[in-house]
Amino acid sequence: MALISFPKSSLLILLALVPSCQGSKRQVRFGDKATFTQMCVRNCLKDYEDYLTEGNKPDPVGQCNINLDLGRGEWDPKAAVYSEAESDKTTPPPGYFDSPAVLEALQWDCKSLCNYSCFQSHARRSANEKKIPIKYAEKWPFVRVFGVEEFMSFLACLLNGLIHIYYLTSNKLRPLFVGPEGYRMKTPMIIYSVVCLNSYLWSAFYFISSNKRTETMDLFFAFFKSIITTWVTVYRIGGSGAGENAFGNTCAFISLAALAPFLFIFAFYVYLMTSFTFNPMMSMRLQLAFMGLHVIMWVYWSLIGRGRGKGYRWKGLACLFFLNLITFIEVVLGWDIDDFPPYFGLFDNKSIWLLFTVPLTSLWYSFLMNDTKWEVDAMEKKKK
Ligand SMILES: *[C@@H]1O[C@H](CO)[C@@H](O)[C@H](O)[C@H]1NC(C)=O
Repeated sequence: MALISFPKSSLLILLALVPSCQGSKRQVRFGDKATFTQMCVRNCLKDYEDYLTEGNKPDPVGQCNINLDLGRGEWDPKAAVYSEAESDKTTPPPGYFDSPAVLEALQWDCKSLCNYSCFQSHARRSANEKKIPIKYAEKWPFVRVFGVEEFMSFLACLLNGLIHIYYLTSNKLRPLFVGPEGYRMKTPMIIYSVVCLNSYLWSAFYFISSNKRTETMDLFFAFFKSIITTWVTVYRIGGSGAGENAFGNTCAFISLAALAPFLFIFAFYVYLMTSFTFNPMMSMRLQLAFMGLHVIMWVYWSLIGRGRGKGYRWKGLACLFFLNLITFIEVVLGWDIDDFPPYFGLFDNKSIWLLFTVPLTSLWYSFLMNDTKWEVDAMEKKKK
């Protein structure tokens, strides 16, 4: 049995390696290089400067809406004024439910609104003329919702985060996945949940507004999550299954010490990214490698582990299978590089991937609760 099933799980190693040898990047044209966009931005900025030289104080976003009518209407570079009659009523407005207060709170200013408005105008024109969609300043023209840049991805992060908060704060559910007082997995499981929650929080910030800072935090904490997940898996699978660690005792310290090398890897990663080269692609590959390792360990456990948890291991395997499937589509088929323009200005590859992870997160918790119960029961039995 073991001999037959092991090669299957080792196939997953390939899954972690394939993203490293991906094909070349497709050439993308940028809409911000188009004459229309450049003129539009220039006129928009000029009107803004004129407004300031008239002695008006810069009042970040509210003033753009009053004087430049940005973020609402279509900017027409020929007339240099927004014209209600010319706007195409059948296409969606540049932003949904934006209010100056929200835009200001999210640090949009008139200049970035000039960009946004002109990019959206050009994107709509291209769509009306049935031209192929193009990127603007290296990004697809997402339509803002409540001032949030990539709303669907943001929403998916929020939902994932809420699941973690729900399990962490529920007095009924928390003991079911962290186990009773004195159980070796108690602290690691809490750390795991908090680290996942933290990672989704930073992703959410990134999707609200992508800039160097939010991108860095998102990458770092996503990598941290993959490191901690791997540690928790080593810790969990390494135990005897009866509440003991790999050394056959219940000393929490020994198992917690296993965290040290993982923290060292993270420190080295931070050093690489900050002092050596800030490379988001490398970060993603490293993260995938650790996620691959985590998957291999669980699959190994499920197929040729100690035969524990026979009844519920399908949950864990189903989670890993679907997570791999969507990651395979996302990464291996190259969606993350040759990504497609967002449908309705909202749904792109990342948001679809993230929305699929929402039900998987709850299924994974359900699996963890079953496994904790199995270990705790075995622990009780052994005591008697
Ligand atoms: C506007 O877009 C251009 C690229 O077309 C970019 O270089 C510039 O930094 C953007 N400005 C703002 C304020 O976002």
